Amino acid sequence: MVAEEAVHHLHGASVEAAFSEYGLEVATLLFGGGEERKTRTQKRRLEDEMLRQGLGRDSVVIALGGGVTCDVAGFLAATYERGVPWVALPTTLLAMVDASVGGKVAVNTAHGKNLIGAFHQPSRVHCDTGFLQTLPDRELRSGLAEVAKAAFLEGEVRTARLRELARPVQDRDGSALAETIEAAVRLKARVVEQDEEDRDYRHVLNFGHTLGHAIEAAADYTLRHGEAVAIGMVLETQLAEQAGIAQKGLAREVGRLLQKLGLPTLLPGDLDPGAVHARLHADKKVREGRVRFALLERFGRPHKGPDGWSVEIGEPAVRNVIGLG
Ligand SMILES: NC(=O)c1ccc[n+]([C@@H]2O[C@H](COP(=O)([O-])OP(=O)(O)OC[C@H]3O[C@@H](n4cnc5c(N)ncnc54)[C@H](O)[C@@H]3O)[C@@H](O)[C@H]2O)c1
Ligand SMILES: [Zn+2]
Repeated sequence: MVAEEAVHHLHGASVEAAFSEYGLEVATLLFGGGEERKTRTQKRRLEDEMLRQGLGRDSVVIALGGGVTCDVAGFLAATYERGVPWVALPTTLLAMVDASVGGKVAVNTAHGKNLIGAFHQPSRVHCDTGFLQTLPDRELRSGLAEVAKAAFLEGEVRTARLRELARPVQDRDGSALAETIEAAVRLKARVVEQDEEDRDYRHVLNFGHTLGHAIEAAADYTLRHGEAVAIGMVLETQLAEQAGIAQKGLAREVGRLLQKLGLPTLLPGDLDPGAVHARLHADKKVREGRVRFALLERFGRPHKGPDGWSVEIGEPAVRNVIGLG
């Protein structure tokens, strides 16, 4: 089991006890955690430790932690002795609804995030909402942005239901959490099933992320991923409205739910729009210098452009929406 140290401290004993109840032998390798440790160096260190312990091809890698741990452990499993199965025990909301679904596993490099990795589906994902009771509020809200994205992609009914559950979910009511997690996972799984290798349709999951990633980077990662994506979803929907793609009023509706979930919907006042713009053009989703967006026409209807599920938007509109005039 590859466990993030801080998480292991909170939940490791109960997980290990559950395995031993079934007579399963578990070797626990602790991992420091943090985005800055999602590296080839850490992967190599864990691999060497597994080899030293003589763990063979009949091993199963178990990931206990957030998205960082799932990405490292999943990638480790993808290449360990040419590939062994892995099981995800995600402990953040973001990892439950996003990082552990879809089989993308990767580490960061000096040249960018998630650039070295593989597609390696977990054999099983076990989401225990009990883990979320110890998750800091800000991390919970960050995950709620991806939950909201899934609801927007699914449609009006799911979005209205999430509005109803906004309070109980933030109060960590177990059944409200279970319902929202299940809905978000089903939506992502449905999208991934249609395009496992991210060739086209899977791009719809990038809603809010073209601007979101640029905002996250421009803010030097002082915003959580979900916070940046929440702002990104609102601004990208404004873009879609201005381009005549989205129905009028959609951006306001998107913002209303995100606010109910405790998420920001405006660029922070101290963030330089010029820096956001520069980061947009450094993003790997830029093809031939032009920025592409995955947009919504309305809830439940992603936009299909002339050449796929993401579209180019003209530079003046983009500058306008981030406040560069
Ligand atoms: N593979 C994919 O498809 C995919 C999708 C989305 C995100 N990701 C990746 O996921 C990562 C982000 O995931 P994350 O937000 O879970 O970050 P994370 O793994 O760093 O966890 C966030 C924080 O929460 C703490 N934590 C985790 N579980 C806890 C618990 N139960 N109680 C208390 N504290 C807990 C951790 O110590 C950490 O400080 C990024 O690296 C991103 O690239 C991958
Ligand atoms: Zn995301």
